[in-house]
Amino acid sequence: MSIEKNLFGLLPNGKEVYIYTLKNNNGMEVKVSTYGGTIVSLLTSDKNGEFHDVVLGYDSLEGYLKGDKYFGALVGRFANRIQYGTFKLNDKEYKLATNNGPNHLHGGIKGFDKVLWNATLIEDKNNILQLSYLSVDGEEGYPGNLNVNVKYILTEDNSLELHYEATSDKDTIINLTNHSYFNLCGHSSGDVLNHKIMINADKFTVNDKYSIPTGEIRNVDGTPMDFRTLTPIGANINSDYEQITFGNGYDHNWVLNTTDSPLTKVAKAICEHTGISLDVYTTQPGVQFYTANFLDGSDIGKDNAIYNMRNAFCLETQYFPNSINCSNFKSPILKAGEKYDHKTIYKFSTI
Ligand code: GLA
Repeated sequence: MSIEKNLFGLLPNGKEVYIYTLKNNNGMEVKVSTYGGTIVSLLTSDKNGEFHDVVLGYDSLEGYLKGDKYFGALVGRFANRIQYGTFKLNDKEYKLATNNGPNHLHGGIKGFDKVLWNATLIEDKNNILQLSYLSVDGEEGYPGNLNVNVKYILTEDNSLELHYEATSDKDTIINLTNHSYFNLCGHSSGDVLNHKIMINADKFTVNDKYSIPTGEIRNVDGTPMDFRTLTPIGANINSDYEQITFGNGYDHNWVLNTTDSPLTKVAKAICEHTGISLDVYTTQPGVQFYTANFLDGSDIGKDNAIYNMRNAFCLETQYFPNSINCSNFKSPILKAGEKYDHKTIYKFSTI
């Protein structure tokens, strides 16, 4: 296990951005940038022992400064949409920055994906990279000075563990996630329609046509949203089921079946060609399964790859989108002085 630090580039204000390379003894390698806490690349072995980069991204910092797709980003303060960017907390109405029509998306105009994180190495047997950021009271409209620490831990069983912790000096809301776009056949290998996926959820949250959960929770049974057993991503992606037409594919939150264990296995994805398999475990109540419906070939990625629609999938573990405005959803409120503490593990293996 080792961690190496290199300069990734300079921000327009001259500040240095670093890239940290985490490596385990099996040769698995994850690169993380201090700009946006972004996972820039993730190399893992296929069934023949060859390594593939299984996340979409850019070769250089410039790509991330220009891009608007959240490739690999650490998303906050609030992942996904908040309707009209407004919410009420302790009888006070808050108005957040709106950056997705009239709605707030992924933390606003300058979310956590666009800030510079401070890196420290916690040198114990795990060699942990910790990224920290202080989001000041009022940033993007959110209340409270929010102190955030995110640990990136690569283990010898080929797991990348992300451990999110935060505290605030005022009551606030928070919903952190990682927005990696996975393609387990390799980042430049085209669409993921033949990947098989399992999502451990009997229910999902129904969206309106602007991809905002309405508050309705629906059974997946008998719908194209049923991924309780391994199913090709493409099996029903062009269905005329209204939820799919609203999202132009999958762009929904699944209500995870949780168990007594704090970390539940919530999803699995497989590329049969490489044999690379991804298992996702989390403490979070939901996962946004997104099939890269907004990629349109305009992003030139690593190694000059052109990323088109459905060339990847995201599994963004989180509180439900718009949960602060839906009283039947698990509350994303973080009380002053209390601790937000969530973990997600992406575990790689081969079949
Ligand atoms: C999330 C959203 C999508 C889209 C992407 C980023 O997954 O649900 O609608 O905004 O992020 O492009």
